[in-house]
Amino acid sequence: IKDIKVKILTAEDLEVSKFYRYPDSHKGDYGKVGIVAGSKYYPGAAVLCSNAAIKSGCGLCYLITPQETLYFQSLRKPEIIVLPVESKEGVISFDGFVKFKEYFAKLDVLGFGCGLTKNEEVEKILIHILENFQIPIVIDADGLNVLASSQKAKNLLAIYKSQKVLTPHYMEAARLLGVDVKDVAKNPIDAAKKIAREFKSICVLKGSRTIITDGDEVFINVLGNPGMAKGGSGDVLTGIILSMIAQGYSAFEAAKISVYLHSLSADILLEKKTMQTILPSDVIEGLDSAIRRLI
Ligand code: APR
Ligand code: MG
Repeated sequence: IKDIKVKILTAEDLEVSKFYRYPDSHKGDYGKVGIVAGSKYYPGAAVLCSNAAIKSGCGLCYLITPQETLYFQSLRKPEIIVLPVESKEGVISFDGFVKFKEYFAKLDVLGFGCGLTKNEEVEKILIHILENFQIPIVIDADGLNVLASSQKAKNLLAIYKSQKVLTPHYMEAARLLGVDVKDVAKNPIDAAKKIAREFKSICVLKGSRTIITDGDEVFINVLGNPGMAKGGSGDVLTGIILSMIAQGYSAFEAAKISVYLHSLSADILLEKKTMQTILPSDVIEGLDSAIRRLI
């Protein structure tokens, strides 16, 4: 029997009314994104994630990143507001993070994980966020890796009282579920549903056919191409999701629209470029055409 709750994601599944910008609107109407990302080892992840967020329509984007990554950020869009955090050996520190407390109160959504690397400080920050914040959160990459190895963080996330999106690739999903990556690959829909149910979150299980689920309804994305199989693609997707939530979309809607736009952008790029040459940063620039085609 066909599960009617599994659907191929099409433009008709997407609610684009929030793309309309009222003539008398101001930046506050489009939301404030906060992104905790980057380390001395992966400074580019923070740049890609925040550039993608600001290119997707949010009103303001704050990047909370270790001060050591600043040398690298010439490619960061100047519209992004950087909060340089004191770090320990190039990785964000807990004491540095909490100094920016007053900023967090005014955010509409928080992204956590791209390029952070994984250590005890990062775990402490995630636990602090889950215990003290109450804003929608998108957890990716090292945020997921920290989560996978911390039962305390897992428990807190399950009871976290705001919207949540988790964006694992297959390996990150396997770590979260404590299974082999082969098991995730064998039945990715089940894996994605399990994650969504365990954490009462939206799960975006990334792959060549990304799965988006709230634990009940399942959407499968069929756009996109292997030109996206490059480090940094996931960071771009996280930025788009954050921006959509900031603009008022629910976590589920935001996940669907963002996965669609991200892969549509990469497909449109192939009209002029190749799978070898398109880069995650090109996918950000390609959002102009992708959004125009969608709305
Ligand atoms: N076809 C379509 N889409 C693809 C394909 C493909 N063949 N390959 C990859 N993608 C898309 C995925 O759907 C996803 O949106 O590219 C993105 C890849 O995201 P990630 O797997 O998170 O990869 P990456 O950007 O390298 O992540 C950055 O974070 O997750 C960690 O270990 C990871 O260090 C890496 C960092
Ligand atoms: Mg990734």
